[in-house]
Amino acid sequence: MSKKKPDPFTLVIFGASGDLTARKLMPAVYGLFRDGLLPDAFSVVGYARTPETDESFRAGMREAAQKFVRSGSFDEAAWKAFASRLSYVSGSYDAPGFRLLKSKLDEAAARDGTRGRCLFDLATPPAAFGDIVGGLLEAGLSLPREGDSSWPRIIVEKPFGSDLATARELNKRLQRAFSENRIFRIDHYLGKETVQNLLVLRFANSIFEPLWNRDFVDHVQITVLESVGVEGRGRYYDQTGALRDILENHMMHLLCLVAMEPPVALDADAVRGEKVKLLRALKPMPPACVSDQVVRGQYSAGESAGAPVPAYRDEPGVSPDSVTETFLALKAFVDNPRWQGVPFYLRTGKRMPVRLTEISIHFKAAAHPLLRAAHNAPPPPNVLAVRIQPNEGITLRFQVKVPGPAMEIRPFGMDFDYVSAFGKEPPDAYERLLLDAALGDSTLFIRDDEVEAAWSFVGPIVESCDARKPVKIPLYPAGSWGPAEADRLIQADGRRWELMKRPVHHEPGTRRRRA
Ligand code: BG6
Repeated sequence: MSKKKPDPFTLVIFGASGDLTARKLMPAVYGLFRDGLLPDAFSVVGYARTPETDESFRAGMREAAQKFVRSGSFDEAAWKAFASRLSYVSGSYDAPGFRLLKSKLDEAAARDGTRGRCLFDLATPPAAFGDIVGGLLEAGLSLPREGDSSWPRIIVEKPFGSDLATARELNKRLQRAFSENRIFRIDHYLGKETVQNLLVLRFANSIFEPLWNRDFVDHVQITVLESVGVEGRGRYYDQTGALRDILENHMMHLLCLVAMEPPVALDADAVRGEKVKLLRALKPMPPACVSDQVVRGQYSAGESAGAPVPAYRDEPGVSPDSVTETFLALKAFVDNPRWQGVPFYLRTGKRMPVRLTEISIHFKAAAHPLLRAAHNAPPPPNVLAVRIQPNEGITLRFQVKVPGPAMEIRPFGMDFDYVSAFGKEPPDAYERLLLDAALGDSTLFIRDDEVEAAWSFVGPIVESCDARKPVKIPLYPAGSWGPAEADRLIQADGRRWELMKRPVHHEPGTRRRRA
């Protein structure tokens, strides 16, 4: 992470009493502060409707930081210094609330010399985004600073709209208050070290780029599996589902980084420009194709980590007859010269047997294998797999000769493991992203046209699925690998889902039909 410090600023978190603030934002800001990456003149103002005092807010945040800060590295002295910079404003997202906030920020500006450098973070449910942005505009809090037009800034958490129309509307509202260079649409997957490593893997190594196309690649798999269920977010999730929660954002960005053309530079405009081109090249999926190319599923009661867990429909906040998907498998195509005809299989699910995010490039089989593997079968094709989490690393599967007199060959995985190579865990994604936003670097944030291009592809799929509601949704037991229909989706093409390397810590008591 950059050692450059941002200018003095105040971070204003809307939704400060919520889960996202406690689990992700505050531990990340504390981690940055503890590591000396924030300026001396820096403060955090938490804003939410829930009545709290500065003291009770600090106590709650301390607990959160202790629990969730990276590698559990909580430092008492650093916390004391950090806590003195935290304060809380309780108010609604209306004019009196914003007046109160403004006076608090004026105080902070006079005390810390931040001179209007505010970084607003929308960590509320998306329904409040419009009111907050409107309130900031009316209170004059979004106006550019004299002499430095890159402040104040705003971070918008996902989901960004629920379809193309709502995403466009939100873009318009935001841009009425903030210029695009001051809007930071966050997708925390882009802050993951191993996601950024994809760029290095592809563009800093000469051996992969010549093979990275339809002549050598048979297909690509992108897998985002979670062992958790909806974790008390049933009400939100039931309106969202895997299509909007994971596919439209995290998976689309992984797909972009794997498949986009090399950018001319690694700066915000060049990288995001290539991502948009890739999103626009995705072959649209008309309703008639959705049933062949998309499988949805929902978990029923089962097991997780050896303990019984309820069905999705029995989770708090979820409708008892919900047909919202907690699992999704999909086949997509990129309609450009590099990827013509190469399927991209995407799979994501909650309550899976493992937590694992992996991208694997499956190369074509040797054209004329001189050697045969066991049972006289052709050797399995080469696979290059990037493990995004956990056990971050890269595996290359290739064939080796088994020692002995016979010419017996076997696939072997050559491994790069982040922790063994660097002796430490990769940095936290939110830390990286918050620091970048404070430094004004938008490379790892989503541009307006990117979000709209992602919705242009995902929106029609969501609509087709919604149009078929209410329908029966295939069920899979919690702790299993998803509905059998997902296997059929890929098997119909003569392929199968594969994970190159299972996480080291398996949860016991889970069914293992396949990987
Ligand atoms: C969030 C989704 O964006 O990402 C959650 O809303 C999901 O449903 C989470 O659990 C997964 O993030 P990570 O970093 O744990 O893979």
